Amino acid sequence: MSKFYVTAPIYYVNGVPHIGHAYTTIAADVLARYHRMKGEEVFFLTGTDEHGAKVAESAEKAKKSPKEWSDEMSARFRFAWDTLDISFNHFIRTTDKDHEEAVKKATQRLYEKGFIRKGVYEGLYCVDCERYYTKKELINGKCPDHQRIPEKVSEECYFFKLSAFQRALLKLINEKTFVIEPEERRNEITGFLTTEKLADVSISRKKVEWGIPLPWDNSRVIYVWIDALLNYLTGLGWQGDPKKLPKFWPPEIQLIGKDILRFHAVIWPALLLALEIPLPKKLFVHGFFTLGGQKMSKTLGNIIDPVEQVKIFSSDGLRWLLLSGFPFGIDGDVSGEKFYEKYNADLANGIGNLVARVLTLAIKSEIKNSKFQKDKRWIQEINKVWQKYEKAMENLAFEEVAKEILNFVAFSDRYVNETEPWRLLKTDFAQFQKVIYNLLESLRQIAWSIQPFMPNTSDKIFNQLGILSSEKKKNLEKAEEWGSTKFGKIEKGEILFPRL
Ligand code: MSP
Repeated sequence: MSKFYVTAPIYYVNGVPHIGHAYTTIAADVLARYHRMKGEEVFFLTGTDEHGAKVAESAEKAKKSPKEWSDEMSARFRFAWDTLDISFNHFIRTTDKDHEEAVKKATQRLYEKGFIRKGVYEGLYCVDCERYYTKKELINGKCPDHQRIPEKVSEECYFFKLSAFQRALLKLINEKTFVIEPEERRNEITGFLTTEKLADVSISRKKVEWGIPLPWDNSRVIYVWIDALLNYLTGLGWQGDPKKLPKFWPPEIQLIGKDILRFHAVIWPALLLALEIPLPKKLFVHGFFTLGGQKMSKTLGNIIDPVEQVKIFSSDGLRWLLLSGFPFGIDGDVSGEKFYEKYNADLANGIGNLVARVLTLAIKSEIKNSKFQKDKRWIQEINKVWQKYEKAMENLAFEEVAKEILNFVAFSDRYVNETEPWRLLKTDFAQFQKVIYNLLESLRQIAWSIQPFMPNTSDKIFNQLGILSSEKKKNLEKAEEWGSTKFGKIEKGEILFPRL
């Protein structure tokens, strides 16, 4: 059985989860569920990033200890992900003892292998980003992401010799051993690696206490990003020994937002090269959610709480809206009425209405599973749909997948209009049964296709068709076969998506 390891980032616990965080996590969940549906052995990791100056600062403001604060905030993330039906296999916290121990071992290893040197760091640090900036990178003296004036840091510290990996990295990225997508993001990194000389990165902080102590120098803690990046290994149970890698290593896909690209495309693979650990196969970088064109952030006070959105749209509804609105790689605006309009169009009037329409007709007659004859037109259509569906899914083009699903819903709706089963019911009962069989089969296929996005609705449809337990035993390849099911007792059930 082939394996599939997918990671979402681990989230800073300096604030509560917002819809931007939910975006990456839902996308990773859709991939995880899709690959499970194909029968692969999937491991999906996410969690919380809890050390560093930024978290310590938030805890202090709330008059709590960093640990108390992290416990509370980490629980908020877990709660949000449960509300959104995120099916992670493990939720890692960087304050987990086994993570801390493994990070120490790995850092010690880098030190022993000569990849760490002592030096003096003088420069600028943005606590909100938890990163160093050069003057050139600032806009009007402020961090471009947070509009915060970075603090001047001048301290003796330890550096990771990032510069030693510049050529190796460029080669691996160019020859696509380490794939970065979309192309625009890959070009950004290869451009950077071609034109600028990589500087070594400071991996210790002296004035920060909330972190993992450097194993050979207790007066300092390990830079939060080194600690955080290693979660992708420790989250699989890795204990810090490069010779003993977990069975799921390396990740097939790592999902991140564009703001943390350099950490994942430069520092992370360099650390792995230094430790002689195979690199992830693919890094996929998505765009940002904006509100009225503005970035969403705690500092700007314009964040949207995903848990509140679930109360309006349901978990399935929100998952669908977030991923079907615009291409995954680019920025998209989520303000105003758009969600309502799209919810009503795609879900209430689209999928929900088709299901209700077909079931209302279907309960009028007993289903003659045995009378089924293969209908070429449907088989052709569904084969085409699945082909495009799977290709788009492999490319992480979630909005194209969603379009394919909606096209098939429209195709099914047209079939109802053309065949007029309510008329056939009175004039040609045998034909009526054939038409209904095709329509029920189309609902079953739709239920499969929406499963990664809307697992609850998918199960509800299976239930309404009386086939929940039998479908659960199948993998996608079997399920795609037109006519591979015997329907059970049809139940009309509740309205799937009440109009808003
Ligand atoms: N803790 C680091 C990641 C460490 S991974 C080893 C971090 N955390 S974060 O909480 O600030 O952001 C986590 C993810 O959320 C990032 O991928 C980021 O791109 C994403 N997003 C944050 N705001 C977002 C939007 N407004 N829109 C889309 N994604 C956004 O960075």
